[in-house]
Amino acid sequence: MGNVVYPKHLGIIMDGNGRWAKEKGLNRSLGHKAGADNLIKLLDYIYKNTSIKVVSLYAFSTENFKRDKNEVDYLMKLFVTLFNSKLESIKKNNVKVVFSGRRENLPKNVLEAMDKTMEDTKYNTRGILNICLNYGGDYEIVDMTKKIAKQVLEGNLKIEDITKEVVSKNLYQDLPPLDFVIRTSGEKRISNFMIYQSSYAEYDFPDTYFPDFDSKCLEESLDNYRKRDRRFGNVK
Ligand code: IPE
Ligand code: IPE
Ligand code: MG
Repeated sequence: MGNVVYPKHLGIIMDGNGRWAKEKGLNRSLGHKAGADNLIKLLDYIYKNTSIKVVSLYAFSTENFKRDKNEVDYLMKLFVTLFNSKLESIKKNNVKVVFSGRRENLPKNVLEAMDKTMEDTKYNTRGILNICLNYGGDYEIVDMTKKIAKQVLEGNLKIEDITKEVVSKNLYQDLPPLDFVIRTSGEKRISNFMIYQSSYAEYDFPDTYFPDFDSKCLEESLDNYRKRDRRFGNVK
């Protein structure tokens, strides 16, 4: 951990669960289960062995509601078990869990499990786990705009006082910018993931499907990150 450079904010687009299952002749749901089991191990590794402070996970996009009802129902059930019991190790690692996304359309038991997880972890200080669920980067910008417009209309904010800080405070979560985003499974797109926060992020697109993306794969991605020359518009 010592002098090794880590991103402060890491994003993971956990993709490839369905293809992982298909290649094994299994139902897509079993791919999601394997992905969730892998996630627990990966997060435990991150919070124990690296100095990464914030992890944002893409768990379910607003667009994922287009999928077959069976798959959506399975995922919602998986989230409930994940938040109610499997995230215990996260709590032990002193990590604060927050959520990004729209609450509408999420089943009541998922919302309750989310609320309990936030409540149980709100004083934790080691790091933040931001779970993007029913999340769309475009909707986040729409929702931020509405919140700011309301403050202006109600006389609590002047238009000339709208700054980047104000924008950031009115997003779902006020987090530092993403330094590094990993999308597993070989797809090279960001599919509506944190489009505002990733303005200067570095990307890595490993071919591995998420259920197989273990700590060794993560270390390989982090090595790629360390080789990048982040200039932020400057010259070196
Ligand atoms: C990512 O895996 C998990 C979610 C989107 C919820 P996919 O389900 O997208 O897996 P592929 O892309 O079909 O392999
Ligand atoms: C993005 O993956 C959403 C999550 C990983 C939760 P998708 O599999 O839904 O994205 P597309 O459809 O391939 O762009
Ligand atoms: Mg996919």
